[in-house]
Amino acid sequence: MFFVETLQRRKRENRQGKLLPIGHRAGAKARVLKDPRGETPEPGFPTVDGPHYYDVLAALHDFVTPEWYFEIGTNRGGSLEVCPGKFIAVDPQLILTNFSMKDRPEGHFFQITSDGFFDLGFLEGLGIRPELGFLDGMHRFEFLLRDFMNFEKRSAPGAIAILHDCLPFTAAMTARDWDPKKTRQWTGDVWKTLAILLKHRPDLQIDVLDAYPTGLVILRNLDAENTTLAGCYDAVVAEFLDTDIAAFGPATYFDMFQIQSSHAAIAALRATGGPAAAAA
Ligand SMILES: C[S@@+](CC[C@H](N)C(=O)[O-])C[C@H]1O[C@@H](n2cnc3c(N)ncnc32)[C@H](O)[C@@H]1O
Repeated sequence: MFFVETLQRRKRENRQGKLLPIGHRAGAKARVLKDPRGETPEPGFPTVDGPHYYDVLAALHDFVTPEWYFEIGTNRGGSLEVCPGKFIAVDPQLILTNFSMKDRPEGHFFQITSDGFFDLGFLEGLGIRPELGFLDGMHRFEFLLRDFMNFEKRSAPGAIAILHDCLPFTAAMTARDWDPKKTRQWTGDVWKTLAILLKHRPDLQIDVLDAYPTGLVILRNLDAENTTLAGCYDAVVAEFLDTDIAAFGPATYFDMFQIQSSHAAIAALRATGGPAAAAA
């Protein structure tokens, strides 16, 4: 009985746009997640115990209300499912068992790599400039860096980009190749992308959120005309390619930014009055 009441309360809270703590998934499928990590944080790595990242994504949809949402890395469709409106979803291996179109007005699926998608010129051809992008494809830093560069170039004024998996909690999960025998969670080395953006794009507004289990990064103040990353891409890829988190030093990395409460960050965003007001 207690459990049912808890679920009902969570559903009510989710309708009111609240975020729930510590990896709890709100909404119609409300339940307490079995800890999907299967590992505990290593010394020197943070515990990332904010609301589940799907709920933070849902709050960002609610805040931005994009005409077009753009997603790289759709997989089973769990992150796409929280998008209520028009979308473009890109993944070379779409599975979509956790997604159903329902009454969404329009959606385009591309079973192709993100590089291949951008080469198609689909967004330019239709004059689509997405206001919200979730970049969650290949978990290697140079891919995510390109995904961000390509998204920024085609984004709407005031757009927000979201990165996933930049807060690993073990060294094993940051390997460039996923070995499921060594780690159930795999962030890859996309932490390097955040380090590169912090160093080379001080003009971006970068918020690192404690979204469970491996963080979300919100990037604002995007500039479709900015060519800084294109200019240093080869050099930074060469600089970071052979570095791993142990050599870089977890402390060096995690000292580069503060991990914010997702609740506080979403409340602060809402207080800005919306992306259009922030862009003006
Ligand atoms: C972690 S899953 C995405 C999970 C999903 N966003 C979610 O939160 O439910 C990563 C996905 O990236 C896809 N992927 C791998 N390489 C890619 C590439 N080059 N371009 C786009 N997507 C890629 C994989 O097929 C996989 O489905």
